[in-house]
Amino acid sequence: MKWVVCVGVFWIFTSLAQAADDICSLKPKDLPLEPACIYRNPNIPEDEGAATEAPQTVPGSTNPRVWELSKANGRFALSLFKQLSKSKSENANIFMSPLSISTAFAMTKLGACNSTLEQLMQVFEFDTIKEKTSDQVHFFFAKLNCRLYRKTHNSVELVSANRLFGEKTYEFNENYQNISETVYGAKLLPLNFKEKPELSRQTINKWISEKTNHRINNTLPEGSIDENSILVLVNTIYFKGQWKHKFNRHNSMESKFHVSNTHSCPVQLMYQENTYNYGNFPDDKVKVLEMFYNGEGISMVIVLPNKETKLAEVEEQITLKKLSGWLNNMKSKPVAVQFPRFRIEDNFSLKEKLQAMSLQDIFSAEHASLPGMVANNQNDLYVSDAFHKAFLEVNEEGSEAAATTAILFAGRSLNLNREVFIADRPFLLFIRETTINTLIFAGRVADPCSDR
Ligand SMILES: *[C@@H]1O[C@H](CO)[C@@H](O)[C@H](O)[C@H]1NC(C)=O
Ligand SMILES: *[C@@H]1O[C@H](CO)[C@@H](O)[C@H](O)[C@H]1NC(C)=O
Ligand SMILES: *[C@@H]1O[C@H](CO)[C@@H](O)[C@H](O)[C@H]1NC(C)=O
Ligand SMILES: *[C@@H]1O[C@H](CO)[C@@H](O)[C@H](O)[C@H]1NC(C)=O
Repeated sequence: MKWVVCVGVFWIFTSLAQAADDICSLKPKDLPLEPACIYRNPNIPEDEGAATEAPQTVPGSTNPRVWELSKANGRFALSLFKQLSKSKSENANIFMSPLSISTAFAMTKLGACNSTLEQLMQVFEFDTIKEKTSDQVHFFFAKLNCRLYRKTHNSVELVSANRLFGEKTYEFNENYQNISETVYGAKLLPLNFKEKPELSRQTINKWISEKTNHRINNTLPEGSIDENSILVLVNTIYFKGQWKHKFNRHNSMESKFHVSNTHSCPVQLMYQENTYNYGNFPDDKVKVLEMFYNGEGISMVIVLPNKETKLAEVEEQITLKKLSGWLNNMKSKPVAVQFPRFRIEDNFSLKEKLQAMSLQDIFSAEHASLPGMVANNQNDLYVSDAFHKAFLEVNEEGSEAAATTAILFAGRSLNLNREVFIADRPFLLFIRETTINTLIFAGRVADPCSDR
């Protein structure tokens, strides 16, 4: 038996209605979410949790368990990033939504048992958080989603959509479907995989395309659905943000992007001087810049290695702790920023990457244990593959702000104390929610010239 997980991700220009989110006001006791099985990490004593980390203050008005979950997601994000970076050439772009991937697999945790569950807990770092949180990870995912996806402002939109597509002759566990719908808003749509696999594939790709305003097509490659497919799980995420400080198009100019020591390519570098959150960390050989989107809650963090440092060196050392350390030690100051206008698209099979990270059994017809997802205690379901596709476009986002121009040129000539941040060589970027540091997207821009 087969089961396919699919994740589609998207960034830019559209507006989708938001789903009703009554779960946002519920308490755990209002919503008994009994997972099929429970796994306890023997090394984490109850009520101590994340014992390896120094105690930190929970950001104001944040449920501490939501914060823990967000940190677990962040740790997974950076390990997956490293895994991807290992498997790709140094000059290849990377872009993905780790949050979207964690969400999709959390939906499988709901029905998982035995070593399948244990591996899910370990790879996604759900076992590093307090027991109560990890048993109830679905509830806190819902809360995290409430927090993230409510953050809508006139000019910032963050929208996620989930759906299950199931073989129509197969019986899925009703409780699983109910929880999945309540927590993830993922309704099950029956499809005829057995007789019409290709048509089913097209239906799913069309759904993803519609949810992403046609920016993400063909997520499931040809042949990914066949007559053995049973369930496809889709999570899409969509973000559109306008810079708090827009760039003026008139200040953009063609310049060289130094892909490597020996190779450069032409790119449009945008320019502006403004007040940004900025940090120079010579010990780690990086400069870090944070540019906010309108509405404050979401920002892009850019990690730029020093000129003589290779990005690979920075990638090797990066951990959530390190990244948080940088972010906590930045200051708001005048910075002259040059940043490329670019568009990157990335797609990959999560199966190999996650297998390399020790998520093995869920992909194995022999060893997978997902009894909570099917009716009648059948145990013949496994995940045949998982796909992720993501897209990012960065531009000036409106060039009509004439007032900005004036400030900009005044700053340019007068402010001698400004910092200079020129992203004309490979860098890392993260799009994050700022109060709890949820990494919504993560990427490496190694060659912004490639897609034009
Ligand atoms: C998985 O757990 C169930 C009980 O939840 C048990 O009956 C079964 O033998 C276990 N399977 C494996 C492969 O350990
Ligand atoms: C699932 O939800 C339906 C509709 O709300 C309800 O009738 C049914 O009893 C629920 N099933 C379970 C197992 O919770
Ligand atoms: C996706 O397909 C639609 C309709 O076929 C098309 O209009 C759109 O441009 C495509 N999107 C991309 C990013 O190729
Ligand atoms: C990614 O996209 C390319 C071109 O669109 C395609 O050839 C490739 O098979 C895709 N890879 C995966 C893993 O889907």
